[in-house]
Amino acid sequence: MSGRATFGLAPMEGVSELPFRLWLAQVSAPAFASTPFLRATDTFPAQIPIDFAAELTREWDVPYQLIPQVMTADPDDFVRTARLLLSHAEFVDLNCGCPSPNPVSGGAGSSLLKDPALFVGFAERMADALPAQSFSIKMRTGFDDTAAFDVLTHGLRSVPLKQLTVHGRTRRDRYDGSSRWDLIQKAAEQLPCSVVGSGDILGVDSMPPIHAMAPSVSRFIVGRGALRNPWIFLELRNQKPVAIRRSLVQKALACFALLTDLGMDHQIDRLEPLVQKGLWKTSAGTHSEAWAALYDELCVAHSGKILPLKDLELDRITLGRVKMVWNYLRSSLPAPYFEPLLLRSKSLGELLSGLERLDPADESFLVSHRSEWDWLFTSSRQKPTPAASEPIQLASITT
Ligand SMILES: Cc1cc2nc3c(=O)[nH]c(=O)nc-3n(C[C@H](O)[C@H](O)[C@H](O)COP(=O)(O)O)c2cc1C
Repeated sequence: MSGRATFGLAPMEGVSELPFRLWLAQVSAPAFASTPFLRATDTFPAQIPIDFAAELTREWDVPYQLIPQVMTADPDDFVRTARLLLSHAEFVDLNCGCPSPNPVSGGAGSSLLKDPALFVGFAERMADALPAQSFSIKMRTGFDDTAAFDVLTHGLRSVPLKQLTVHGRTRRDRYDGSSRWDLIQKAAEQLPCSVVGSGDILGVDSMPPIHAMAPSVSRFIVGRGALRNPWIFLELRNQKPVAIRRSLVQKALACFALLTDLGMDHQIDRLEPLVQKGLWKTSAGTHSEAWAALYDELCVAHSGKILPLKDLELDRITLGRVKMVWNYLRSSLPAPYFEPLLLRSKSLGELLSGLERLDPADESFLVSHRSEWDWLFTSSRQKPTPAASEPIQLASITT
């Protein structure tokens, strides 16, 4: 099974946005990637927001298939938004999993799972209005419990879905407990379309039990695991952990910072020539020279010249995003990297040059997930009282 398994980046609100997708393509090249959900209403969007799916709308040659996701309570709003996206995308995904109170109280996200008739009716309405295979669904295993899961998936059997993605938890579970791969397998057995599995893939060691529980599933998405270890797609492809060094981490983080700035609406035009130049044709991966070359290109596109890392000054929002990525990543690096001081850095240059303190020798090490630091990723209900880390703005694990 693992020989033909395909792995993509999960939709993650506040994370799987354009800069992160472009960055991850350089780090470990997922086969496909999802946008976070776009919340559609009867008036929004009138047109596709500039940075929502720039790879599609600008016809960029990137090495991953981009799957745009839409969240709404109303099938007509989905159909209208999907039609805008379908001039560029092969198919559009409907979010039936978001557990946040706001969409749920408005009847969207995981709320659509409360009533199987409503859920199947929504899917049939999409099928009536859109070409076969031009839409897909991402769902949890239920709202309060899994009692209706069979009925929900059974109802989709005659709907021409491109794919069904199942995150093996209910809305009530949020992120607690383990993903139910046995239920994901049941859906795969029941449905004619491809079923994509989601939940708790942290690296190559996660896969044998998942393959045993869900032998019919060969497409997978990785969410939090890609934050903990951005090299995870390389690890999953090569079936062994990836070795990197401190100087590569510095350059990779600096590239993420520059991409974050250049990925903003008003900057995208400066990013475009780099994509057209072919910089995304190969990924930098574990090659220090490739990261250094990418850094130079991004720096020139951004500031007109190559700056030493210590002089890289970007705004507070960008610094916050880099700290978010760093806060997850450091939990898969050697122990000295977990020290909280860097998270207090006042500037990007301070954070990036501060890394030299942690490993002056620049030794090679394996990126590997540490379960003892899992409290970083649990929902607030499970979180222990604050540990050694400085409180910072994390991507809210609410969706
Ligand atoms: C920060 C965060 C944001 C998320 N946003 C979305 C989203 O926009 N749409 C969606 O369908 N799922 C969303 N999810 C759920 C993930 O796509 C995925 O199904 C879930 O995290 C389980 O996979 P994992 O264990 O690999 O993280 C989000 C998850 C996280 C942690």
